[in-house]
Amino acid sequence: MGKEVKTIGVLTSGGDAPGMNAAIRAVVRAAISKGIKVMGIRKGYNGLIHGDIFEMNERSVSDIIQRGGTMLKTARCPEFIKEEGQKRGAQMCKVFGIDGLVVIGGDGSFKGAEKLAALGINTIGIPGTIDLDIACTDYTIGFDTAVNTAMTAINKIRDTSTSHERCSVVEVMGRNAGYIALWSGITNGAELILIPEKERPTDEEIIREILENKQKGKRHYLIIVAEGVGGSEKLAKKIEEVTGIETRATILGYLQRGGSPSAIDRLHASMMGAKAVELLYEGKSNRIVAYKNGQYVDYDINEALNMTKTIDEKMYSVSKILSI
Ligand code: ADP
Ligand code: F6P
Repeated sequence: MGKEVKTIGVLTSGGDAPGMNAAIRAVVRAAISKGIKVMGIRKGYNGLIHGDIFEMNERSVSDIIQRGGTMLKTARCPEFIKEEGQKRGAQMCKVFGIDGLVVIGGDGSFKGAEKLAALGINTIGIPGTIDLDIACTDYTIGFDTAVNTAMTAINKIRDTSTSHERCSVVEVMGRNAGYIALWSGITNGAELILIPEKERPTDEEIIREILENKQKGKRHYLIIVAEGVGGSEKLAKKIEEVTGIETRATILGYLQRGGSPSAIDRLHASMMGAKAVELLYEGKSNRIVAYKNGQYVDYDINEALNMTKTIDEKMYSVSKILSI
């Protein structure tokens, strides 16, 4: 039997991601089903520090599984990076009787969770970010929806690009990681994918390839640029100037973070939410829930934060082979 966790707090932190609501729902209902009280914390660590905390019941999370964003709101909280903020957070947990905390967010949020664990609050992290940039897990909540959103938007850009025989440069999100770019590049049949994990070809090399493709009969040229590489406007201008081919840049931006979560996101969010509660129930702390090789597992936060993630080389090389 587990240690006596009586009250679990739940918060979402960092950038929102589709599926965070499904994870909140799972945490709330899994906890209540074990007789554990649940407190919702609004606006991430900001709400924790300022006591923006309320009791939740099973009905508090009705009708949210299909909604994007996060019903608990989210924030970046610079105050919490300092020790004083962390101590206030731990103190606030005591004030509200919170002895277990589930943090849904990315690496930054997990650093905060680790600090709270060191201050005596049992904490469990759930990976929630569209960027897929958390090393210990094969999946992060929000990624599938974001890639599908990007893919659908790029389909539309392709229609107009082909009609005008233009070159399109499309910039997608991902912070310092190229996963959204690589996946949407492959699924949209991009001619070129620029990601921060790989050396960027020079403008001259890119232009030469565009001209060679034109000679091979291609009627449009699609370049996906990861946010971490950037410079899509500048690149589009240069291509048009040198080749004379009309070139347009589109930065997809925040639309990639919104929308109803996909089935994959809802499923992982539900399973990870339930797993987080099981871990707290077993008396565990300072762990991150992960999806690894088809299993839901958990890692020590410090160990997880020290892992490094590399891009899938096979995917990258296939993207090149298929773009001929
Ligand atoms: P993500 O969780 O998506 O990586 P951020 O890096 O913005 O997003 O982190 C979210 C929040 O986590 C920050 O605003 C801050 O409150 C907290 N955080 C980030 N880094 C640390 C740290 N080193 N120590 C404590 N808290 C941190
Ligand atoms: O981490 C998710 C993400 O959307 C990144 O892809 C992007 O770099 C960042 O958040 C943008 O953050 P903000 O909402 O603070 O502009």
